[in-house]
Amino acid sequence: MSSTETAASTVITNIATLVTNDPSLGDGSPLGLVRDAAVVIEGDRVVWTGESSKAPATDNRVDAGGRAVLPGFVDSHSHLVFAGDRTEEFNARMSGRAYSAGGIRTTVAATRAASDGELEAGLVRYLAEALRQGTTTFETKSGYGLTVADEARALAIAARHTDEVTYLGAHIVPPDYAEDPAAYVELVTGEMLEACAPHARWIDVFCEKGAFDGDQARAILTAGRARGLTPRIHANQLSYGPGVQLAVELDAASADHCTHLTDADVDALASGRTVATLLPGAEFSTRAAWPDARRLLDAGVTVALSTDCNPGSSFTSSVPFCIALAVRDMGMTPDEAVWSATAGGAAALRRDDVGRLAPGARADLLVLDAPSHVHLAYRPGVPLVSQVWRRGVREV
Ligand code: NIG
Ligand code: FE
Repeated sequence: MSSTETAASTVITNIATLVTNDPSLGDGSPLGLVRDAAVVIEGDRVVWTGESSKAPATDNRVDAGGRAVLPGFVDSHSHLVFAGDRTEEFNARMSGRAYSAGGIRTTVAATRAASDGELEAGLVRYLAEALRQGTTTFETKSGYGLTVADEARALAIAARHTDEVTYLGAHIVPPDYAEDPAAYVELVTGEMLEACAPHARWIDVFCEKGAFDGDQARAILTAGRARGLTPRIHANQLSYGPGVQLAVELDAASADHCTHLTDADVDALASGRTVATLLPGAEFSTRAAWPDARRLLDAGVTVALSTDCNPGSSFTSSVPFCIALAVRDMGMTPDEAVWSATAGGAAALRRDDVGRLAPGARADLLVLDAPSHVHLAYRPGVPLVSQVWRRGVREV
């Protein structure tokens, strides 16, 4: 195509309910709902959204058949570079054993023993699984290598598949450093950071009993920031702790989990721009108490909803499943949960080109086999995602 030619335009029309996530469009709600709607795509971008009857002329036309269209899901928290699985640990938990950070060691051993090809094949498989369920943007992390070479290769593999790559050398202190955690923090903030930073956008720490305390987390995130990475934190998952307030203090993009929050934690989140990312797959798979999304939303906190897909605490790649849990058990309305899984995820990744369907946004969208987005929670477990478009191309 020469530079003077424009890309072919396509209208997706006969949309019963369109979620734009642009309050200036449609009904004025945060979801910016438009009924009897159409979306016009040119190249990889949305160029127009509105009522079907007002749609401009286009080269191609796709009939959505009275179904719902929404932005592709933005899964802002996953751990997809790993080998092996933890079926036995899950089985033991479902017989009453508690989840602890220590299970991560099992996956570290399997991941270190795997070839690059095996790790990449696993990642590709889970990404395909997520795409079929509507995820068009995803973040993923290292954290199961915990040596300089193993962390760097995990990130290099991840970076071949997404721009949203997070260095999580501080997932746990590996067994080889059990006697000297300070030396491991030195490695994570020194040689390992140097090897990993070129492949990553973000730095993360598991701030928790049995992993890293507040002082260690602060040192690690500060070192990462000095090396050009932006902080995000696994915070307050298994117990109360300093993680959430540290996240806000460091202006982290996101505090993830937020299961055990004091009023001061909620106030801190409401005072800053750090997004609270809730991961109900983890509470489901560890039989833990649900994070209180209602409390955060009522305090004015921006909430994202993601899968945390990993072989230990949350082995689901399904955002629709997380939406259903959040609505049933965390006090979210269907509208809020859908917003959090799209625009909320984008906010947690500090992105404004995804998570919304307005002119200029990336043409990443889903067609549901249902007349509205509410069915994602109303019909749990049903594979409602019938089409997935990414960058203007239909992929599912
Ligand atoms: O986000 N919390 C720390 N990391 C993961 C669990 C990792 C694992 O158990 O393998 C999480 O839940
Ligand atoms: Fe996680």
